[in-house]
Amino acid sequence: MRVLVLGSGGREHALAWKLSQSPSLTALFVAPGNPGTEAIAPSLAVEPTKPADVVALAKLHHIELVVVGPEAPLVAGVGDALRAAGIPVFGPDAAAARIEGSKAFAKEIMLAAGVPTAGAHVFTDLEAAARHAAAGGPIVVKADGLAAGKGVVVADSGAEAAEAVRALGKLPAGQTVLLEERLSGPELSVMALCDGERAVLLPPSQDHKRLLDGDRGPNTGGMGAYAPARLLTDAQLEQIRREVMLPTLKELARRGTPFRGALYAGLMLTPSGPKVLEFNARLGDPETQVLMMQTADDLLPLLHGAALGALPERPLKVHDGYSVGIVLAAQGYPDAPKSGAIISGLEATGDALVFHAGTKRDARGSVIVSGGRVLTVCARGATVKLAQAKALEAASAITFEGRQLRRDIGHGAPAA
Ligand SMILES: Nc1ncnc2c1ncn2[C@@H]1O[C@H](COP(=O)(O)OP(=O)(O)O)[C@@H](O)[C@H]1O
Ligand SMILES: [Mg+2]
Repeated sequence: MRVLVLGSGGREHALAWKLSQSPSLTALFVAPGNPGTEAIAPSLAVEPTKPADVVALAKLHHIELVVVGPEAPLVAGVGDALRAAGIPVFGPDAAAARIEGSKAFAKEIMLAAGVPTAGAHVFTDLEAAARHAAAGGPIVVKADGLAAGKGVVVADSGAEAAEAVRALGKLPAGQTVLLEERLSGPELSVMALCDGERAVLLPPSQDHKRLLDGDRGPNTGGMGAYAPARLLTDAQLEQIRREVMLPTLKELARRGTPFRGALYAGLMLTPSGPKVLEFNARLGDPETQVLMMQTADDLLPLLHGAALGALPERPLKVHDGYSVGIVLAAQGYPDAPKSGAIISGLEATGDALVFHAGTKRDARGSVIVSGGRVLTVCARGATVKLAQAKALEAASAITFEGRQLRRDIGHGAPAA
C-alpha cells in the first residue's frame, strides 16, 4: 500500500517510523516532513491546510491512504476533500473535527451521548458571561475555539473568572466562552483509532504541559509523555471505550458526520469517576511518539481499516514495559523560541529513538533548530524509571545552544 503521512512534527515522524515497518507498505511519503522523516521516507512539499493541493499531491503519487497528523488540516477540510476524491484518509471530516475545534460543540455532543463531563454554560454574550462568572466561585473559563493551549483559565475566584472572560474575549477563539464546573484529580489521555462506529484504544498516556520539572513554569505544547499510564485498570479502560468513545462515535454518526480517525479524550480522574475535559480529533504530540514505541501491532491495517469503516475490533497488541519521551525544546521556548542553533550528537543514540519536529537543514547540510519543540527522545524500559533514565541518557548526548528539557517525565506514574 502507498501511504502519505501529512505533517512535519514529532508525531508524524513517529507515525512514519511505525508505518515503515508494515509488511503491507509499498511506498511511504511524508508531506511536508522534516530532516528526521527524510531518513525513512521522501518528503513532498505541500501546504497541509490546502485541501485541493493535498488531493492533487495524493493523486500524483497514487496514494492509497493518507494519514493526517495535525488538527489544522482536518479543520480546513482535508479529510472531506480526500474522501470526495475517493482517497481513503485516516482523519475525520471538518464537521466531525469540530469536536476539537469547538468546545461548545464537544460539550453538546457529550451531553447528547451521555458522556461524563464537567457541567458547563455556554455564552455568546461575553458581558453576561462575565457577570455570571463574577457572581460565582472557582470555575474554569474556556474559549470555544482553537487557541493553541492559551484558551483555558482555571480560576480560583469569581473575580478571576470574570477577568478571564474579558481576556479570552480578546482572542478570535474566545467570542464564545464556556463557564465550566471545576473538577479535580489526576489527568490522563486516552486515544482511540475509530472507523465511525468501532474504537480500538491505544495505551493510556500522560503528557507534561509545563515547561519545568515539578509541573512548574509556563504552559507548552507538551514537554514529554509516557505510556502506559496505569492510573486505570484494564476494566476501567474498557469502560472508557464503551461509555466515552462508542457513544461519542454513535452521536456523531447519528448527526451524519461519522468520525474516522483518532479520537483523543483528555480525562480527569475525579472522586466521582473519570470525566472528559476535552476531545481532540487527532493523535497527541508528544504522546504519539511513545505510543508508537509501545505498539507491537502492525499499524497500517488498523489505520486503513479505520479509514474504510472496517476497523477490526480487538485489543491493540502492545509491548511489555513502558516508553518515555522527552522533548528537547529551543532556547526561549515557549515565549520566543530561537531558531538557528546547530544540533550535534544526533547520530549516536543507542536503542533510543529520536523523533524530529522543529528541525531543518541549513545550506551546509547541518541539522539546525527551526521551531519551539525540536526533538522528542524516546526509550523503552521495564519500568517508567528505567525508560526515563535511558531517554535522559540518550537526550544528554544531543546538544544545541539553549536546549531545554525536563528530567521528571513520568513522575505521575503510580508507584509499581
Ligand atoms: N473542568 C475542569 N476542571 C479543572 N481543570 C480543568 C477543567 N477543564 C480543563 N482543566 C485544566 O485545563 C487544562 C486545559 O484544558 P483543556 O480542556 O484540555 O483545553 P486545551 O487542551 O484545549 O487547552 C486541562 O489539561 C486541565 O488541567
Ligand atoms: Mg488539553
